[in-house]
Amino acid sequence: MSDNRPIGVFDSGVGGLTVVGQMREILPHEDLVYFGDTARVPYGTKSKETITRFSIENVEFLMRHDVKLVVVACNTASSLSLDFLKRCFKVPIIGVIEPGAKAAVGSTRNGRIGVIGTAATISSGAYEKAIKKIKPDSSVFTGSCPLFVPLVEEGWADKKVSGEIASIYLSPLKKKRIDTLILGCTHYPILKNVIRKVMGGRVLLIDSAKEVAKEARLILDSCGLLNRAQDKEPVYKFFVSDEPGRFVKTAERFLKKRINCVRRAE
Ligand code: DGL
Repeated sequence: MSDNRPIGVFDSGVGGLTVVGQMREILPHEDLVYFGDTARVPYGTKSKETITRFSIENVEFLMRHDVKLVVVACNTASSLSLDFLKRCFKVPIIGVIEPGAKAAVGSTRNGRIGVIGTAATISSGAYEKAIKKIKPDSSVFTGSCPLFVPLVEEGWADKKVSGEIASIYLSPLKKKRIDTLILGCTHYPILKNVIRKVMGGRVLLIDSAKEVAKEARLILDSCGLLNRAQDKEPVYKFFVSDEPGRFVKTAERFLKKRINCVRRAE
């Protein structure tokens, strides 16, 4: 069986392209429709009601493109609205929380897991709940790192200031003797080197973007929805809710690739 419909991915903005980058590696034959809600970003400071309302609209937009699976790339939207989305729509929908939690539990040796994310993700307790569901005796330590998102979008990941800010945010987690740290926000994989430097080589970093791409592959495969036609380049369509210019610039940095097809969603 083969299904050549595209996969839909949405995020609050450009950050979900870390998920797209991983999907390009892990699902190289799948077409993709990406929606970045650039007019309403950030989600990380907003309420559950607002994020859920935005997320419903984002899925409705993707459904108009006849997607076979929806990937909620945004950690904040996954934390706060995934359960509701799953109840509202028939299309399979997956988020980043469970795959990230599963990978962390599978990797930890001492059962002490750290999670970093936006303020909304952290205060939702979603990662903690997902981890404890799999491994109830684990100890979970969390922290929000709100300045990481603007640092990445500004292209400052390699500047000294990023290291200084990371060290302020992460030093409380370092003291907790965690051996695994979930990068629970779309932007944080871009800061992997900086975070690794602060946390030390012994702490394993879990990239939720990579884990959700692996999960998407598993689900498509088990539902007979993979695109088995391997004879053409996949088509990626990008849509944003605000003017595309800034998105294109940041997107090319995220994907290390030229992007020419970004449209404003109608
Ligand atoms: N995409 C968001 C997340 O992964 C980060 C940016 C935002 O706050 O909207 O949580």
